[in-house]
Amino acid sequence: MHLRFAALTASFVIGLAATAQAPTSLKDAYHADFYIGAAINTAQITGQDARGDALIAAQFDSISPENCLKWENVHPQPDKYDFTIPDQYVAFGEKHHMFIVGHNLVWHNQTPAWVFHDDKGNLLTRDALLARMRDHIHTVVGRYKGRIQTWDVVNEALNEDGTLRQSMWEKIIGDDYIAKAFEYAHEADPQAQLNYNDYNLENEPKRYGAIALITKLKSQGVPIATVGLQGHDSLDWPTLDQQDATIEAFAKLGVKVAITELDIDVLPRATRQQTADVTVNIAQNPALNPYVNGLPDAVQQQLAKRYADLFTVFLKHRDVVNRVTFWGVTDADSWRNDWPVRGRTSYPLLFDRAAQPKPAYTAVIQVATTKSSQ
Ligand code: G3I
Repeated sequence: MHLRFAALTASFVIGLAATAQAPTSLKDAYHADFYIGAAINTAQITGQDARGDALIAAQFDSISPENCLKWENVHPQPDKYDFTIPDQYVAFGEKHHMFIVGHNLVWHNQTPAWVFHDDKGNLLTRDALLARMRDHIHTVVGRYKGRIQTWDVVNEALNEDGTLRQSMWEKIIGDDYIAKAFEYAHEADPQAQLNYNDYNLENEPKRYGAIALITKLKSQGVPIATVGLQGHDSLDWPTLDQQDATIEAFAKLGVKVAITELDIDVLPRATRQQTADVTVNIAQNPALNPYVNGLPDAVQQQLAKRYADLFTVFLKHRDVVNRVTFWGVTDADSWRNDWPVRGRTSYPLLFDRAAQPKPAYTAVIQVATTKSSQ
């Protein structure tokens, strides 16, 4: 009885505090804890999506480039770099005084085939590919030296069992391509915070692989500052224990943790495996797309609770977590509408298709408000 009264009183007091000081934005709510970011697309970068831009400026204090800094976009041909969109991306972040993310330098996807071949079509030697990698990293990182604060240097280098992926980078250069990429990025901008970024690190086999990798890199003096947990989550994965243990495990290694690509899938699972592999493509099927006309309230509430639970874990680790970035701004923007099945109606973010805050938005703000009233 007493306990119940105490709990009721506590929630009443928290409720009062929430009313009195309810922050009006995500970035204000988490200002003392970590950056709140969003991945932004070309329409937002170029000002074509004015409604999206207003929302980004009002709600977020960090941005990531959803696609424009990937190798195939910024460096489509051997002697051609295209900085048109990236320059506008960085200018947008500077205009709004944001923490600006670079994504990404070395990945097995979205990298043109020519990168790995000479002009006769033969595979490059280790030295030639290292020289090409160094040139790319120096050109791109060097251009934005002191203006892009953090780079995803290597993206998705691990298999699900924790072994190193046999990418073209690994096959031609060998396992030390990762250390080399960090070394080159550090040469190009010694102040930039350098990140290793991957998905599914909450699953133990892959997490242990990442722990071994980071431990080795650190023992070699490689300048790695953060591990990025992408966070392409679902309503039931990862468990809160997995999320908590994963952040804690990397914190112990002496690196910070960034949540780099957060979104939560509410649609029926189309693949047996939990993955964020962009090459997966499943055939369309109405059973996999049940919410074309709107999200039922019960699912909306589940999503809100799920976001609140995850943010409670992130907040618990606010000494280590330096940023939480959503992979998109509104549900209409999300890659989840076209992956792993094309043309679905997905609801993974905090703002709906009309750019209005969803119950999940309120729940995320409430977590911060509750914390600051304790
Ligand atoms: O730009 C072309 C456009 O000209 C063309 O008309 C259109 C036709 O489909 O395609 C456009 O390119 C698409 C591009 O996104 C921009 O919308 C590509 O097909 C599509 O494959 C690409 O998908 C991106 C994907 O990475 C692959 O690069 C997603 O937007 C992006 O959200 C996603 O982001 C990745 C992270 O970089 C790494 N972690 C996983 C995450 C989600 O997959």
